[in-house]
Amino acid sequence: MEQMIDREKLLVADRVTFAYKTRHQTVWAVRDVSYEFEAGKVYAIVGKSGCGKTTLISTLAGLNLPSMGEVYYRGTSTYRMNRNHYRRDDIAVIYQNYNLFPLLTVLENVLYPMELQKKPKKDAVSIAKEKLLSVGLDGSYLGRLPAMLSGGEQQRVAIARALAGGQRIILADEPTGNLDSENGDLVMKTFQRLAHEEGYCVIIVTHDPQIADESDIVIRMESGRIVT
Ligand SMILES: Nc1ncnc2c1ncn2[C@@H]1O[C@H](COP(=O)(O)OP(=O)(O)OP(=O)(O)O)[C@@H](O)[C@H]1O
Ligand SMILES: [Mg+2]
Repeated sequence: MEQMIDREKLLVADRVTFAYKTRHQTVWAVRDVSYEFEAGKVYAIVGKSGCGKTTLISTLAGLNLPSMGEVYYRGTSTYRMNRNHYRRDDIAVIYQNYNLFPLLTVLENVLYPMELQKKPKKDAVSIAKEKLLSVGLDGSYLGRLPAMLSGGEQQRVAIARALAGGQRIILADEPTGNLDSENGDLVMKTFQRLAHEEGYCVIIVTHDPQIADESDIVIRMESGRIVT
């Protein structure tokens, strides 16, 4: 049956297919995925290794364009928008290995997206401090380098950095994959608060059944398709 998709929703996949094409073969990583993501919810995308989770969120994030179908953000297709602006202003991506800049301090890491947005330095510094506090990191962390932090602390800096740019959609690929359960729980609590109290749309790829359990909606993928 044909699904009716409402393009005006916050973030929409409309019959999205993505193929990796090399000289010798084509891998259909995402197949005909339709889904509407809304503000205020935490979504978990689960499924076996290789089923297309990372490819799907890369396509939602505008890092890939669909081979077929469309991704719509507030009604505009990623084909027809300025994707650099989309990635800078609307979408925050968080990775398993934190991806902090190793030679920048905690404060400088969190300032970075605001520098791209040309925000005045003084405002940026106060926003950075506020976002770091919101993930439980006080002023004593500001001058440290990422290497001087635990994994959980680094992931929380990555979240603060994601929040500092003002984007309202968080796409996180295995954000708790390198964390022990206590730190994973802290990160999950942060996502829940952002979604439920501040209206963020949080989409998490996870292998962790507990993280999936604590999400509002679980999306199961198999061989590139959504099966639930
Ligand atoms: N750059 C690439 N070139 C060719 N094929 C790729 C590329 N990246 C991923 N694939 C293939 O696309 C399919 C989906 O990969 P994807 O990384 O989206 O899976 P995943 O669900 O995120 O897996 P994992 O849980 O292991 O991270 C896999 O078959 C993979 O081998
Ligand atoms: Mg992956």
